[in-house]
Amino acid sequence: MKAQTETTMQKDQDSPENFQSDVLNGLRHFPKKLFSKYFYDEKGDKLFQQIMNMPEYYLTGCELDIFKNKTQELAESIIANDEPFDLIELGAGDATKSSYLLKYLVGRGADFTYMPIDISGNILSVLQHKFKAELPTLEVVTLQGDYFDMLEKATSISEKRKVVLFLGGNIGNMELDESVHFCRELRRKLHSGDSLIIGFDLKKNPHVILNAYNDAAGITARFNLNLLDRINRQLNADFDLKKFQHYQTYDPISGACRSFLISLEEQQVTISNNRVKFEENEVIAMEISQKFSETDIQSLAAKSGFYIINEIKDSKNWFIDSVWQVI
Ligand code: AVI
Repeated sequence: MKAQTETTMQKDQDSPENFQSDVLNGLRHFPKKLFSKYFYDEKGDKLFQQIMNMPEYYLTGCELDIFKNKTQELAESIIANDEPFDLIELGAGDATKSSYLLKYLVGRGADFTYMPIDISGNILSVLQHKFKAELPTLEVVTLQGDYFDMLEKATSISEKRKVVLFLGGNIGNMELDESVHFCRELRRKLHSGDSLIIGFDLKKNPHVILNAYNDAAGITARFNLNLLDRINRQLNADFDLKKFQHYQTYDPISGACRSFLISLEEQQVTISNNRVKFEENEVIAMEISQKFSETDIQSLAAKSGFYIINEIKDSKNWFIDSVWQVI
């Protein structure tokens, strides 16, 4: 994972054995599926960086707009009586967006510690150097590892109120039931008075959404196909990438934007001595990027034990950073 990744997903920290069993189990499943958390190897990180810079991919720009232009509103909704707090960022990446909030909070004299959590130690040391140079008075405690383990660690090392950031629309890369489970798990790690800022990509004109994942230059297609290439490299497999085609769908009713790879012919692939057969036009489900309405967000908050204290949208009303508090 590279420092240029803006906000990182909880990435593949799994062993090669887990990667292999996830791949084989997924391809033995009907319909075939692969986990998008495995998209992010070194090449995948670079492709995701290119996606964030594509004209069609609006999510990054929208959330940046919120953090740049609505910084005061964001800050005021988490400051609460000027009590000290820990600001914990899940998958901090290079903290491009959160740095606007951090600078504002430091300028305002807020008493807080920034705790970025990431699976990559490299990213965390880059962050530590960056803030030492740019915001020398900011107290930074880096936490390397799994989100929930590190959240527990943060709670054990400090009793201060917690404010958690989960940005980038990463919640959308979970099926709806998984996102309820994830938010409930977050809730279990937090206490009364703690809060959460969570970024949601909103339902909008379906063409805008579909174009963001079906870009003219084919970068999203390469991002998906790269997982087959990774399987070839790391699991001694022989996928012929020319025999698979990216296919993207968006269902404006459910809000599910899904990517698939289609087998262009009947074929057989060998993965570490295991054979997997594909029919012509058989699909592999690759990724969900779920879109939300404001009602969907309210329902998720309620189901997982939070209430919404503020909803901050970008200037196009395409993306929301929703501020939740533990009930
Ligand atoms: C990381 N995540 C929020 C991105 C998204 O929009 O679902 C991943 C992505 N997949 C294709 N394009 C971007």
